[in-house]
Amino acid sequence: MSCWPNIGTTMFTCKRNGLLFSGRYISPSTTFRRQSTTVQFYQNRQLELYASKEAKPLTLRQLVFFGRSMNEERLIKSANYVRTELPVRIAHRIRDLQALPYVVVTQEGVARVYELYWLAFEKFRRYPPIITLADNNEFCKFLSGILNEHATVIPNLSLGLSLSSPFLLPDQLDSFMRRMLISRISRRVLAEHHIALSDSHAGRSKEHFGEPHVGIIFTGLNVKRSIEKCATLLRERPFWAEDNWDARVKGNGWPDVIIEGHLDTKFAYIREHLEYIIFELLKNSMRATVVKYQGAISLPSIRATIVAGENDVGIRISDQGGGLLSSENQIKTPSDLFSFSHVRNAARMENSRLGALRNASTSEQGVKATVDEQLGRWQQAMLHKIEVENEKTIEAHVREAGEGWHPRIGIGLPMSYIFATYFGGSLELVSLDGWGTDVYLRLPKLGTNLEGIEV
Ligand code: COI
Repeated sequence: MSCWPNIGTTMFTCKRNGLLFSGRYISPSTTFRRQSTTVQFYQNRQLELYASKEAKPLTLRQLVFFGRSMNEERLIKSANYVRTELPVRIAHRIRDLQALPYVVVTQEGVARVYELYWLAFEKFRRYPPIITLADNNEFCKFLSGILNEHATVIPNLSLGLSLSSPFLLPDQLDSFMRRMLISRISRRVLAEHHIALSDSHAGRSKEHFGEPHVGIIFTGLNVKRSIEKCATLLRERPFWAEDNWDARVKGNGWPDVIIEGHLDTKFAYIREHLEYIIFELLKNSMRATVVKYQGAISLPSIRATIVAGENDVGIRISDQGGGLLSSENQIKTPSDLFSFSHVRNAARMENSRLGALRNASTSEQGVKATVDEQLGRWQQAMLHKIEVENEKTIEAHVREAGEGWHPRIGIGLPMSYIFATYFGGSLELVSLDGWGTDVYLRLPKLGTNLEGIEV
């Protein structure tokens, strides 16, 4: 049932949660509200026009090949592809939002995302063609601005959809979230890749410790190194853990991570995506192990096994944290854990979760730092720690280093699943209840799968 007015619907006026909906009005934003019905109708026609176009999904290989031998002409071509492709992808998702029941779109968070997407759609649609390198520099600044503005989209959407879970069937809710999030990842990949290509072309490339890369794709991504990096970050920074974790951890520290298998595996992938998933999986394993072995003298290690298959890279993470038994002794299934619906995962409606989501959805940072950035901030915080004497300042500094990074908002596993499947990979959890959990992550290594976006 669509509760948003569509083109050609009759005039109406209503007010909900401080938002005025009238005429053929389709956006809750003040800017749009002030515009005349003709303009709103026109905007709706523009939306229809873009939403009727098909998105042009790409493969990882296409992104690498195109970016490999960059020159001015190709860079301008890339810029115009991003300029014209993103509004099409955004338009599809605005239509998706418009198809939600009215009670859902008025939930805190959802209206905010709707407004952000409308504004972004309008900005892209009106953006003039990029002709020169100077135009492209401006365009990159514009893209960076929008990437920042959208940092709070995920916590806002999760908050809105958690609050809406009583009104949507779990399958309906999860497939909506999947379409929204895969599409968002895809748009950010296109924007960030183009910015990175432009930076390298202008000689402003970021330092990547000698790892070969084209734009944001690492062409020889060292899996072992990424696992080590995530394990180090987790073991060194207890501030991601709440609930008196410090006290528990002081008892017996963190479990070791033993890495085995094909240790020299390298493949072409987006490092940020791989590390997001690994970080989340290791975090869950460490947490489960510390809880299960609370007070024990030593902790069983976590094993990460890397296997370079013919078509994909497999990573298995095994812990002895007791498996997927919840504290109430209820077994959680993987689909419950990957779900955004409170029907499948009651924790979604816990006050602490909603509170954390509210904080993240209004913080300027949102959720956007990568493992790399976080490691850098952590190292800086540690350096700073040596310099300052006041305990409070140390704490504040360390907390600041953690801001915007994987806050405990309960979406780590569903997001990891979305990241894993974006280019056709998979993520499976197998629980040996009472003993531990094995997680199997498979990522395609040939780069020939299309992005999993839905029209
Ligand atoms: C998002 O982060 O949600 C986006 O859509 C970003 C994109 C417009 C560059």
